[in-house]
Amino acid sequence: MKIIVFGASGYVGTSVYKLLEHQSDMEVIGTYLETEPEYDELYKLDINEPESFSDFFKKENPDVVIWSVMNGPNEHELTDQGLLHLITHITPATKLIYISSDFVYSEGKGPYAEHDPLSTLPDDHIYSNYTNAKVKAERFINNELTNFVILRSGPIYGENQIGKWDELTDELAYHLRSGKPIAFRDDLIRTFVHVEDLANVVVKFAQQDNTGIYNTGPSTNKSFYEFMSGMAEQLGYDANLVERASEYEEADEEVPKDTSLVTEKITGVVDQRFR
Ligand SMILES: NC(=O)c1ccc[n+]([C@@H]2O[C@H](COP(=O)([O-])OP(=O)(O)OC[C@H]3O[C@@H](n4cnc5c(N)ncnc54)[C@H](OP(=O)(O)O)[C@@H]3O)[C@@H](O)[C@H]2O)c1
Repeated sequence: MKIIVFGASGYVGTSVYKLLEHQSDMEVIGTYLETEPEYDELYKLDINEPESFSDFFKKENPDVVIWSVMNGPNEHELTDQGLLHLITHITPATKLIYISSDFVYSEGKGPYAEHDPLSTLPDDHIYSNYTNAKVKAERFINNELTNFVILRSGPIYGENQIGKWDELTDELAYHLRSGKPIAFRDDLIRTFVHVEDLANVVVKFAQQDNTGIYNTGPSTNKSFYEFMSGMAEQLGYDANLVERASEYEEADEEVPKDTSLVTEKITGVVDQRFR
């Protein structure tokens, strides 16, 4: 079985790629855009560039495609161009595993189950680019494909397969190591997902026939303050240095409050414990 991991140089994609490399029945090909990792030979590809995408996809003709791509301010291009190229080329025989986000529930009145309606943000909102691109991508996939899995995830944390940590924990450790306090919001509720648990789930969906939309993560939801206090303790730092951040926000910067996920559905389909 041949698998392509788009975004194999990224935080999540690296773990997915590395886990797949250890599967004897799979040939895995990974792509990057700018940051070529030292540990592996990945293929340089701009997914938004139609001709090179087409040449690459036709040549490789994969059985499974994993979307672990993200591009901050240009997320819309990834959906309008990159995902469009992919959907144009993919046949029903090829399975797409698309990593989506809890921000598709940007109304922020969670917890949310898979069948709950998605919501977009006003165009002038600071998170509209990412959120609205993810909502559009999900609708696009749902309308055009049948052989797909959408995995929705809250904030992803932990050490990945090459020892890289998520940015929030990195920031936490940096502050606490030097005895400086750091503050996190207590009013923003999320389902935090460990990077290795998510990567394992991606690999399992690549190996089995199930399709559909699944929320990922444990059954417990936490505020950023609660989660990061726990993380400080786990890493052996003084958790008293983790403080509650101000909840004041400008109208166009209002962060969705509760985007936590109900994760019962996935537990019946994939044998994976979420820590
Ligand atoms: N991190 C989170 O907390 C979180 C939460 C929920 C959902 N997600 C989803 O999880 C997935 C992976 O996120 P991540 O945190 O691993 O992101 P990341 O570390 O920023 O990695 C993004 C990857 O996308 C590649 N890329 C960007 N633009 C591209 C383009 N035009 N063509 C081809 N490749 C391109 C990057 O390549 P280079 O490195 O070479 O630039 C990199 O490999 C995304 O779908 C994201 O929406 C992430």
